Amino acid sequence: MPRTSKNRQEVEVFDFYEANRASKRSSISSTRQILKDLKAAQKNDTETTGDFPRRCWGRGGQRRRRSLHGTATLRLQGVPTTAHTGATAYPYVAGTSLGADGMYVGRDLNGGGSFCFDPWRLYERGVISGMSMMLFGQIGTGKSSLAKSLSVRLVQAGRKLSVASDKKGEWTRVVHAVGGSVIQVGPGMGTRLNPLDPGTRPPVNAQGEPLTDEGWALMVRTRRMAILITLVRILTNRDLSPAEHHVVSLALDAGVHTARERGGVVVIPDVIEALEADKTHPDRLVAEASSVMAMTLHRMTSGDLAGMFDGETTAHFAANAPATSIDTSALQGASPEAIRVVNACSGAWTEAMVTTSDGGQRIVVYEEGWDNISSEADLRRMVESWKLARAYGIFNVLILHKVSDLNMAGDAGSKMAAMAKSLLADADVKVIYRQDESALRLTREEMDLSDRERSLLKHLDEGVGLWRLGGSSFQVKNDLTRVERELFNTDQRLVTVAKTATTAPKEARA
Ligand SMILES: Nc1ncnc2c1ncn2[C@@H]1O[C@H](COP(=O)(O)OP(=O)(O)O)[C@@H](O)[C@H]1O
Ligand SMILES: [Mg+2]
Repeated sequence: MPRTSKNRQEVEVFDFYEANRASKRSSISSTRQILKDLKAAQKNDTETTGDFPRRCWGRGGQRRRRSLHGTATLRLQGVPTTAHTGATAYPYVAGTSLGADGMYVGRDLNGGGSFCFDPWRLYERGVISGMSMMLFGQIGTGKSSLAKSLSVRLVQAGRKLSVASDKKGEWTRVVHAVGGSVIQVGPGMGTRLNPLDPGTRPPVNAQGEPLTDEGWALMVRTRRMAILITLVRILTNRDLSPAEHHVVSLALDAGVHTARERGGVVVIPDVIEALEADKTHPDRLVAEASSVMAMTLHRMTSGDLAGMFDGETTAHFAANAPATSIDTSALQGASPEAIRVVNACSGAWTEAMVTTSDGGQRIVVYEEGWDNISSEADLRRMVESWKLARAYGIFNVLILHKVSDLNMAGDAGSKMAAMAKSLLADADVKVIYRQDESALRLTREEMDLSDRERSLLKHLDEGVGLWRLGGSSFQVKNDLTRVERELFNTDQRLVTVAKTATTAPKEARA
């Protein structure tokens, strides 16, 4: 008997049930019809069944647990609601998406589908305004794998890759795999890089105007002074006095003159020679400063740094190589200053080579980059070169463990700490992988993380990161192909060492 009610909504619910019963009845009768047809077809031809597949199972299909055989239909329940609530309730919430414009990185775990990323396209679209990215996370969470997969995919799309200083040598296989070249620098390697190399001449300056000869000469001189001052700062662990700054500048000009007469490029021994000559300068201040600077720079040509940066460059990258890397893994175990000098020199050399607007769009990776920002000198050089990045089509990727790595350059409240923070603020793309509680505290303060993001970051899986760009957050699982996983595997050496350790005693017994 039909239910009646003054309430309109209840009438609708009743109609709904009636429709449901009718649909169930029609479903049963059509299933019966299909089975009847199937039986008839089988009777006629036991081998072939015409349009139907041959029947394998009894009526209702194979009987297994939860196999949904039979004709049962779902029992639907109506939900009485007002039009107002129906219009505002929105049960399926998914995050925003950057669209499909770019390289596939992985899956957006907040429901945005695939996550694609191309910094140059995002810059064009106005989503980001700075061309640098910072990557934070504990060891083994997949930071390097993300940088490698991004780089490999961008190279395959016609971009170029440079790894400024690869301290563990883990990029060598990756760079070779995409047809690039690797320069190995280290004690006894026989490869020399001249940090005073002029670099590649760009056709336009940072403002996009044609680069004149004077402009180019000024650019080269600025670069050379910057690297000399960086080296002195690293080696003396202090700032230069005005007199020291003056004598280094004079010695550089004298060195350039000597090199021109020789028909070559200025090298650090030329600068040292000019400083030695100034030791007898009539001005006592100049003489003293020259003596100190000559002694300091001698470190570059002797001891553990001998033969690496004290002559003209012996290794060259092909101008059109799709990928380049400087492998400094041979330096593991060297003194901290030596490592920092090598990082500064290889970083400056790479930057000088890639800072050209006709070099195409390039991703420059600073792997385990805390050495690149651990002193005022490094940090200052990096801030300067990052400013130029946009003009020359460069996208920088700095990989660090935690935000507090940025404080290595100076105490809280110091000028250096402020500069490190500006580097963080300039990085328009920030990716955070799993962090421990202590690291999270600072990350939360510096990056204004919500409580949800903070608790998420403690438990992120390997290869999953929180991406922050353009005012939005994305939780992304970096998908790696089988080939990529093998190519990027950094556990391999551990596995090899473990295997050797377990097989060694047997071999010894034999
Ligand atoms: N997206 C991923 N999918 C699957 N495995 C991954 C992923 N990212 C990293 N791994 C695994 O974790 C290991 C360490 O990754 P790695 O990128 O070297 O970490 P990190 O640079 O953070 O120390 C890799 O060797 C790989 O086996
Ligand atoms: Mg790594």
